[in-house]
Amino acid sequence: MSNTLILSIETSCDETAIAILCSSKKGLRVLTNQVSSQVKLHAKWGGVVPNLAAREHLKNFPKLLKMALEEAQITPSQLDAISVTSGPGLIPALLVGVNYAKTLSYLWEKPLIGIHHIEGHIYANFIKQLSNDELRLAIENPKITNRKSKIENRKSPKINFPILCLVVSGGHTQLILMKDHLQYEIIGQTVDDAVGEAFDKVARILNIGYPGGPAVARCATQVKSRKLKVESNSKYEIKFPRPMLHKKNFNFSFSGLKTAVLYETKKNPDLLKNKKYIAEVCHEFQQACIDVLIAKTLKAAELYNPKTILLAGGVSANTELREQLQIAIQQSLPNTKYQIPNTNLTGDNAAMIAAATSFRWEKMSEVQKKKALDGWKTIQPAANLKMK
Ligand code: KG4
Ligand code: ZN
Repeated sequence: MSNTLILSIETSCDETAIAILCSSKKGLRVLTNQVSSQVKLHAKWGGVVPNLAAREHLKNFPKLLKMALEEAQITPSQLDAISVTSGPGLIPALLVGVNYAKTLSYLWEKPLIGIHHIEGHIYANFIKQLSNDELRLAIENPKITNRKSKIENRKSPKINFPILCLVVSGGHTQLILMKDHLQYEIIGQTVDDAVGEAFDKVARILNIGYPGGPAVARCATQVKSRKLKVESNSKYEIKFPRPMLHKKNFNFSFSGLKTAVLYETKKNPDLLKNKKYIAEVCHEFQQACIDVLIAKTLKAAELYNPKTILLAGGVSANTELREQLQIAIQQSLPNTKYQIPNTNLTGDNAAMIAAATSFRWEKMSEVQKKKALDGWKTIQPAANLKMK
């Protein structure tokens, strides 16, 4: 891999993000990873409002671009390529990022590449975070690096194929088989809600805050962990279904689980004021999701024999999921490697888009790279972009 400098943009939902990444023989080095979150703005609506998100992206972008170029200490002329999330996502939000990217590509005369959001989440795993000691050394010793970036990287993790990816986000729940870089075979997916969406809806039912996923996870920690199969002595005897657990395919369903939570809370609305009850509901709901995700992943792994099982997407921030999947793999598939993204790269960011771009760039012929100079004429956002 020769030295390549990539500037990437991500605006598919409620995070405005710009990153600059240098890929070389030594691996992927993130020079800057700017993320401006709109959580506070959307909190009062209980979910992302597409037009508000777009307006914020429009406002944030110029500031973020200035900060990114300054932190990375590069000038636009040094860039090899620009990339942007072209889908899937909210169209008003995607349009802002895509149009900024097109403008920069045209003005700076740089190739433009459209990237699938989920491809980005998967490739976040190829960026390794420095340990605290390494980070301190890097900051103290400018010979090692003069960058302030928190996710500098000299050695990217070696991830062996085939990879079985468990993708868990607000819009997706998929099992994807990768026999090689940039090759995706979807072997299972949700037939209704995504798991992150179910977390968000359950948080709304329980009125425990926004964004829902982290709120549910936080409440669930108040109940003794069952990760080592120690049953908690629940006072309320709450039991939710494990949807599609025994189905032969690798699909998921989380909509019924969310409805089960709704029915449970309707039985006795007064209990919604009781923190212990809320914690029990969150814990049992989270565990139901985790049980199904793990069971289906292991079942798929038995059939496809991956060398690596990789976790990706916003819900991969969930500590219980990260840990329980690790234990399950160690117990059932001790020869399979387990790969999870750094916790600061689980949510939407542009470093992951840049990481995916670096692998695409490496595979492109000179003719394709030249054609990408016209990317600003052709790339369009697509709400339901398919993975290729
Ligand atoms: O990947 P992401 O940032 O955006 C999409 O591509 O959708 O994922 C966002 C989703 C949200 O549904 C959010 O509630 C969920 O990830 N999430 C979590 C946690 N942190 C974020 N779900 C469960 N536990 C968490 N700790
Ligand atoms: Zn995402």
